[in-house]
Amino acid sequence: MDTKNENKNHRNTPEYAEYQRDNFWASNDGKVPPFNTEPGKLEQRAKEKLSEGGWFYASSNAGQSYTHLANRQAFFRHKIVPRMLVDTNKRDTKHEIWGHKVSAPIGFAPIGINKIYHPLGELPVAKVAKELNLPYCLSTAGSTSIEEVGKANGEGCRFFQLYMPHDDELTVSLLKRAVDSGFTACILTVDTWQLGWRHDDINTSNYAFYHGTGADLGLTDPVFQKRLAEDGIDPKTMPNEAGAKWIDNVWHGRAHTWEKIPWLIKTWKELSGGKPFAIKGIQHVEDAKKCVEVGCDGIVVSNHAGRQVDGAQGSLDALENIVAAVGDKTYIMFDSGIRGASDVVKALALGAKFVFVGRLWVWGLSIMGEHGVRHVMKSLLADLDITFNVAGIQSVDQIDRSWLESHPKGQSLVAERSKL
Ligand code: GLV
Repeated sequence: MDTKNENKNHRNTPEYAEYQRDNFWASNDGKVPPFNTEPGKLEQRAKEKLSEGGWFYASSNAGQSYTHLANRQAFFRHKIVPRMLVDTNKRDTKHEIWGHKVSAPIGFAPIGINKIYHPLGELPVAKVAKELNLPYCLSTAGSTSIEEVGKANGEGCRFFQLYMPHDDELTVSLLKRAVDSGFTACILTVDTWQLGWRHDDINTSNYAFYHGTGADLGLTDPVFQKRLAEDGIDPKTMPNEAGAKWIDNVWHGRAHTWEKIPWLIKTWKELSGGKPFAIKGIQHVEDAKKCVEVGCDGIVVSNHAGRQVDGAQGSLDALENIVAAVGDKTYIMFDSGIRGASDVVKALALGAKFVFVGRLWVWGLSIMGEHGVRHVMKSLLADLDITFNVAGIQSVDQIDRSWLESHPKGQSLVAERSKL
């Protein structure tokens, strides 16, 4: 592609497509592209790099992985219908989310215990998110303190994902730390009071927190430190007990109900000076309506990437129903199953305003740390920019249902898991 193209100077977002050229040119300079970003090959490479525990935890799904399969199959039933001879020269992937102008309607999904994927854990991920101007969402199950992640993300746009303890003082402490560290939205996850039944993890006792890894976000919390002292647990000499106490406060297995939500919203709004609050993990239309009723600023339509309820509908199918019911009443985000730019376009066409990607950057982090996360996410941005160019899309706002030809729901497509 022509790097002297004047049009790129008139775009709101960088010419991400040039990353394709950089890689095509690389061998002339004696370089090689870092690794193949085709999702299946990316996953395979990550598997080769990771410990058995890291691999199982990153790749595991609930039960027989039927929800994981349904998530991917839901994408196959929608096909993009490209338009030709459209002036895409000043195409624009930018988006505004809760007052933040970002490069694309794409964010880093909240994923816990990054230290099992790379020794630097969440830090390189938060750093790259800032660099690419994409929102970063820190998980309560993160393996780095909230403060350190805030620093690594610097001037970036960041949200805090909450797993809500049954200890209100601890919840308040976590939220306060998030506010003080520059996190500008709270996203409560409601589909994970405890982890789903994941065969490989269970069979290998693969729960890092119980084995002295990953509890840093909790261990650095003053209220949680008080709780440890009350129980006589010294995290230095009793790391397994300390980690277990932390995660048993977070994935406690004790459901919260709608009655608790007004307290949480009020608390977050008071602490943050009115910043947005969203609920993540919604799949049912009635639950989406409830979210609107209780005053959520947004919903993340998600089934936790198929890791919680096995045999569930694909999250993209849920998205369509939820958009039809409340799409004009709240800000709808989507995750579970995005593997490339065309998936982003499909989710936007079905009414999501924003999508989160998770496993893609986890694989990148596992393969090459910061460099790997950067390569995966720059590639996704380039793929999106190029998709806009070749499909005739000028801007994010233009993407709607008319870009898709869709087959009816419920067709059972059979695909090998390794090809998804
Ligand atoms: C936690 O969020 C998990 O899916 O393991």
